[in-house]
Amino acid sequence: KNAVVMAHNYQPLEIQRLADVVGDSLEIAVKAKEARADLIVICGVRFMAETAKILNPERKVIIPVEDAGCPLADFLTPDLIREARVQHPDAAVVVYVNSTAEVKALADTTCTSANAVQVVASLSNDTILFGPDANLAAYVQRQLPEKTIIPVPPGGHCYVHAGFTRADAEAARGRGGMIVCHPECPPEIQEQADRTVSTGGMVRDAAAGGNEPWSVFTEREMVSRLRVLYPGRVFYEKPEAVCVDMKKTSIPDLRRALEREEHEIILSPEVMDRARRVIERMIAVGA
Ligand code: 13P
Ligand code: SF4
Repeated sequence: KNAVVMAHNYQPLEIQRLADVVGDSLEIAVKAKEARADLIVICGVRFMAETAKILNPERKVIIPVEDAGCPLADFLTPDLIREARVQHPDAAVVVYVNSTAEVKALADTTCTSANAVQVVASLSNDTILFGPDANLAAYVQRQLPEKTIIPVPPGGHCYVHAGFTRADAEAARGRGGMIVCHPECPPEIQEQADRTVSTGGMVRDAAAGGNEPWSVFTEREMVSRLRVLYPGRVFYEKPEAVCVDMKKTSIPDLRRALEREEHEIILSPEVMDRARRVIERMIAVGA
């Protein structure tokens, strides 16, 4: 089929093992843009497959499970962006890649958790409308106090990361070692953490050394990946931290997707053209 299979770090381990590429949202987007295969299979959630299609519109892009979505992305609608722009005409609009193609098409640029700070820092605007993740917005605000970051909507969050509590942080401290959290975790968890990084950043930071145990505050499959990559190290997950949509993809789904070339991502050419310019602006920042 001349297909390439890409899987996010939260995909079930058996899917990660079959994939040609495993990575975070930014790594998958960049690899999808560069892909020369006839068929690009995105094992993840819908916004990842949409981003792949937008960046490589000549290829057929499919997602094995049609309704694998991201509840965080659903927080931000095109109308919310239009209203926020009216209220803050001088602000730039930065949307997290965890958003629909229609929302991206209305933004000035996108970002992922791997490059959010660099993308916002690259803008000359003092005020930034940032959505849909209010916790990532708070993280960027702490790194860039000279900017005013306004979360749109104010309470957008990922239920998986919002589930981490002070009690989890205390338990992790009791175990010893480091707390490494994703910037979608609430600010009070980020304050307790030794590092706040994207899922790709976790892979790179673990490679950089240190032998202390890690308590990993993100979707639990991340720990499966870290254990495969670094078998001698100790990683702790939170068993309840499960992204239901990421777990929808099974091996029979992937086989069916490859056999039937389903489910194809189809977007309006207008939305794709606008969203592509917006996503390319993020990639040009080079973070
Ligand atoms: P990463 O870009 O860090 O992989 O995050 C994507 C995501 O959906 C986190 O919940
Ligand atoms: Fe969306 Fe959260 Fe799942 Fe990531 S973990 S895909 S942000 S619901």
